[in-house]
Amino acid sequence: MSTALPKFIEIQNVEQTFRTPKGSFPALRDIRLTVAKGEFIALIGHSGCGKSTLLNLIAGLTTPTAGTLICANREIRGPGPERAVVFQNHSLLPWLTCFENVYLAVERVFSATESKARLKARTEAALALVGLVAAAQKRPGEISGGMKQRVGIARALSMEPQVLLMDEPFGALDALTRARLQDELLAIVAKTRSTVVMVTHDVDEAVLLSDRIVMMTNGPAATIGEILAVDLPRPRDRVALAEDPRYLQARKAVIDFLYTRQAHVEKTAA
Ligand SMILES: Nc1ncnc2c1ncn2[C@@H]1O[C@H](COP(=O)(O)OP(=O)(O)OP(=O)(O)O)[C@@H](O)[C@H]1O
Ligand SMILES: [Mg+2]
Repeated sequence: MSTALPKFIEIQNVEQTFRTPKGSFPALRDIRLTVAKGEFIALIGHSGCGKSTLLNLIAGLTTPTAGTLICANREIRGPGPERAVVFQNHSLLPWLTCFENVYLAVERVFSATESKARLKARTEAALALVGLVAAAQKRPGEISGGMKQRVGIARALSMEPQVLLMDEPFGALDALTRARLQDELLAIVAKTRSTVVMVTHDVDEAVLLSDRIVMMTNGPAATIGEILAVDLPRPRDRVALAEDPRYLQARKAVIDFLYTRQAHVEKTAA
């Protein structure tokens, strides 16, 4: 299905080497990946393999040591409003309320074309989506880690981005909230047709949400080890899927990759 769609994000021979006080550290090598418009990609791999590094490159927050990244036929040279990011460590502005943190993003994208009332309505709708209406006037220091993460998700979704880049967005959430937000995300993405690249540690989450699961080898010099297409029809229902042999097979393939072929080795200091 996904292969018939036009290319949207292209990652061509990308390499990322960091300079550290102890010398250079090759984090990523030879990353080649094409993502179609509207595709949902899960990025999975052990801690420290370079998932956030790759996501930051697509976000345009860093530039690669070698290779090229392209989005919508243009080279990625910096961040842009068409690529919204949900960070692994919810990066909210601590002096602004939850409402203001989301409003800032909405304003940046829509203020040229929409009224203030509409911008407020968008912000309220995004907060409602993640169940944070009651906390709208609180500051990040006054809410839990999971709530902060939900503000970050609301902020990204409120921008209606063409590309949603999410770094373990549900990692800090309890299982029930996590399941609810996964379902919400599926519904939103089906509606907006956003292209999504989402980092996760959770095998079930990867299979439930994605069209393809990109599995990374361990670092240093990590690369894409294998790509698994998840050919499960949409809309997907988590209860029905739990017994679907195709679901179980995909799950097994990812677990096999992670725990047999890329059994976790203690990370050597960078
Ligand atoms: N700015 C940096 N300078 C030096 N080394 C870095 C830098 N950023 C990341 N690294 C190293 O690159 C490797 C990949 O880091 P990255 O944060 O991308 O991993 P990750 O897969 O996101 O891990 P996790 O699952 O724990 O979030 C690690 O060994 C890390 O120490
Ligand atoms: Mg990370």
